[in-house]
Amino acid sequence: MTKKENKKKPFTLFNNETGQSVELPVLMGTEGPDVLDIRNLYKDTGLFTYDPGYTSTASCNSAITFIDGNKGILHHRGYNIKDLANKSDFLEVCYLLLHGDLPSPEDKQKFENVIQRHTMVHEQLVNLYRGFRRDAHPMAIMVGVVGALSAFYHDSTDFSDINQRMIACHRLIAKIATIGAMAYKYSIGQPFVYPKNNLSYCENFLHMTFSVPTEDYIINPKISKAMDRFFILHADHEQNASTSTVRLAGSSGANPFACIAAGIASLWGPAHGGANEAVIKMLEEIGDISRIPEYINKAKDKNDDFRLMGFGHRVYKNYDPRADVMKITAHEVLKELNMEDDKLLKIAIELEKIALKDPYFIEKQLYPNVDFYSGIILKALGFPTSMFTVLFAIGRTVGWISQWKEMIEDPINKIGRPRQLYSGKKARQYEIVESREKKSIFQWLWKN
Ligand code: CMC
Repeated sequence: MTKKENKKKPFTLFNNETGQSVELPVLMGTEGPDVLDIRNLYKDTGLFTYDPGYTSTASCNSAITFIDGNKGILHHRGYNIKDLANKSDFLEVCYLLLHGDLPSPEDKQKFENVIQRHTMVHEQLVNLYRGFRRDAHPMAIMVGVVGALSAFYHDSTDFSDINQRMIACHRLIAKIATIGAMAYKYSIGQPFVYPKNNLSYCENFLHMTFSVPTEDYIINPKISKAMDRFFILHADHEQNASTSTVRLAGSSGANPFACIAAGIASLWGPAHGGANEAVIKMLEEIGDISRIPEYINKAKDKNDDFRLMGFGHRVYKNYDPRADVMKITAHEVLKELNMEDDKLLKIAIELEKIALKDPYFIEKQLYPNVDFYSGIILKALGFPTSMFTVLFAIGRTVGWISQWKEMIEDPINKIGRPRQLYSGKKARQYEIVESREKKSIFQWLWKN
């Protein structure tokens, strides 16, 4: 079924030079700004639009997540993220994102069973891990292993079949936690730990990550709850860089495992999912509350590349609601672990306080984002910083796969193919090498 397109009075674009005018349909979403429908613009005018970074472009029609960045609102399928973080659990949110509604008690149980029964990975996948250097970044391992899943699970790559499509979704949600835990175990030289089906999703993840065969591992329910909340807060965030990457890769018909691997690669960058790792590095570098003003000045200095990591967001021009929950959770976790005097937390709180009063941050509407406090929680739980983005990827996998599924099921789905404003050389004649200038134009290439 075609997604409903509610239209308003069209918008008229007038070209002063040619006197030509064109009417652009205006589409209304259920919430958020209306959008100009420019699908026929090139056909009607011969013009493209130019929007690097897609700051004003809606690339798809989606019913999964709604963000009002000015008000600091985030809803999944109409539910407020704070309600979901405080009252729901991660697997229920996974069901909600995938299927559009909260599950009935019976469906909740069934969904949990299905995910639990997909947590093991093919035993031969272990050989793939062994091919990586021990000091490989776990995100590098994640990109490789998740991409390789399509070589192991052929029976769920024909996504034109709804059953195979759903199996691929379930496998990815279930196995991503196992794959992430294995990446950690491999990096520290400990044996892989198999999942246990009597544990909840987060308990299982903690068990696979922190237990060793020689000792009993007791799961602290408060820590498991914090982990669950972390995954909920990262579950989806509409058309961010990694999700758009997943959609773009999927639009060509690539299989879902390959698409999620592409999403993981995109997430890795410090401007996106890598920011949680960068926040801890920054707080450690600041080292003491007395040095905060120095770093605030660096962040404001146009000639310095330094930015306050965990601050600012393309969409939120207000406090990121996820950061709010994360801050409260950081306090809860540190209290539970008797780490309330944590030095990094103190620096973070003071840094936030100073930045929020500073005219530069006020004027540019830069507030803490989800990554600002998340690293403090993860560090307290015992994860090395290199694992932080892996944890983000585990939580976000359900969002990626739900967006991928929505795209595949959308009849308007077309291969993603942006256009460009060409600024290169105009057509010119080819010269044979003997007749070209003698001097190398790439001297820097040959320096070494
Ligand atoms: N510290 C200092 N100045 C900043 C910061 C910051 N963290 N963020 C933005 N600015 C300034 C920037 O220099 C620019 O100033 P001017 O207008 O004078 O050139 C202005 O604010 C707008 O910045 P922008 O880079 O054009 O904004 P953007 O929407 O393209 O970038 C962002 C958004 C998140 C990449 C950016 O705020 C940033 O680099 N933040 C730090 C990294 C970070 O925390 N990333 C996690 C994002 S949330 C999790 C996720 O979605 O993955």
